[in-house]
Amino acid sequence: MTAQQEPRAQQSLSPSLAYPDLPALEGKYTRLLKLRHPGKIFELVKGIGSPLHCVFPQQFSENIAGIQAVLNKHQLNANIFFAKKANKAHSFARACREARIGIDVASKQELELALAAGIRGDCIGVSGPQKEMALLQLAIFQGAQIAIDSIEELHNIISLAGMDEGSNVDLPHARLPKPKISLRFQPACETNSRFGLTGAQLSAALNLLQAYQQRITLVGFSFHLSGYDIPRRSAVTHELVTWIIAARERGFSSCNQINIGGGLPVKYTSTDNWMQFQNSLAAEHFHRAQIFRDGFYPYGNELHPSAALDLFLSTPTSSHYSLAQQLRENQIQLALEPGRALLDQAGVSIFNIQGVKLIDTGHHYWIATVAGMSFSLSEQWFGSEFLPSPSLLKNNGDDLASPHIFPTAIAGSSCLECDMVSWRKIPFTARPAINDVLVYPNTAGYQMDSNESCFHSLPIIPKVAMWFDDHEVHWQLDSNL
Ligand SMILES: Cc1ncc(COP(=O)(O)O)c(C=O)c1O
Repeated sequence: MTAQQEPRAQQSLSPSLAYPDLPALEGKYTRLLKLRHPGKIFELVKGIGSPLHCVFPQQFSENIAGIQAVLNKHQLNANIFFAKKANKAHSFARACREARIGIDVASKQELELALAAGIRGDCIGVSGPQKEMALLQLAIFQGAQIAIDSIEELHNIISLAGMDEGSNVDLPHARLPKPKISLRFQPACETNSRFGLTGAQLSAALNLLQAYQQRITLVGFSFHLSGYDIPRRSAVTHELVTWIIAARERGFSSCNQINIGGGLPVKYTSTDNWMQFQNSLAAEHFHRAQIFRDGFYPYGNELHPSAALDLFLSTPTSSHYSLAQQLRENQIQLALEPGRALLDQAGVSIFNIQGVKLIDTGHHYWIATVAGMSFSLSEQWFGSEFLPSPSLLKNNGDDLASPHIFPTAIAGSSCLECDMVSWRKIPFTARPAINDVLVYPNTAGYQMDSNESCFHSLPIIPKVAMWFDDHEVHWQLDSNL
């Protein structure tokens, strides 16, 4: 996954005694599960274990339809590749096949799993840096599109394409299909990124490719930006239109695609809640006054993914067209690799509480230790934590309405001091107790399974895929692969 230096809210150090809450927006399947089928939650946790990730493929399919509706509105020829790294559930890969969209993979194993889910090789995009030869070979064999990350990788493609560089002599494995590649651009606004080719390197790559036009298909250019800045993303796309026109003039006649990567923002809470929350946040609202120097994901993004895509495509370019118009007029296909956006509201993570203890350090609070570890609610790679508040479901059906607040941090069950699922003291309105469960909202995008591990020899619990009809919830075990 790209190291995302997203615009993160800074944690204030100003003291405050009130414990701010961050109520999450909840999608309809989360609400159905919690409100109509709470018994199913306890039954599944008891039968399968904790933590339990529930995924909602219906929501995922609706999210695909939402993105497709925007692309249709702008009359664009477009290709969607679901960024598989964002969630391993097989049911999402199968939903991609049903919706006839592609998958973006970054390892040989992900490529194999996408194929196993029934995705055709030519609907698969391969991204990631300096890819291993076995991955490149399989990708070429399956007709997948490969995003070239460096000149060195381009040399590898040339050798796999069966060409002896410079002499145009076929090598024995020349019977592999023609590799289909895009060149990944490293825009000037991302100079500290370790991914992609700078403008000068793009020119060098085109020079190198010139001799292999008959044996390698250049489908276009790609990029991925950290953060959610729409004007920045539009400006880079606009820049790549110029590169496409220049490449076509040099004879690369199939150079037709701009792949804008991922980065459609997800809204986890209302913008107002987010602003208020940030303004009142202080170090003592966290267990051990934990500080997250890199800040947090911008949970209160103003736009939902489809609205952000619409705004991106409507951006006026210097020629006063919208970006979408510019793409249409130049017969450029748009490709996108949404991960988080397609998973918006497509799953929840459930933890069973194993025990609760009082911490008495002046302002007393509680620590609820759950069955599971913080690897199952990941923000570790960003030195951060997942902030939207979980719901507490009482095992004994107790009413949650209480005039009291029970600030509770959530600990993992490992022996490590830093294994905290939520360092933040969440202001529950009931006292958490053994065998109550916590339902963390909207965790399908990266939170669930990016960092899960078998530490302490604990098993990784399988996911449960759920489908809802008017009356029932149906479920089946999903794989963790
Ligand atoms: C190349 C590439 N494409 C797509 C994605 C998915 O991004 P997102 O989940 O923000 O949509 C990433 C994320 O790191 C990426 O690096």
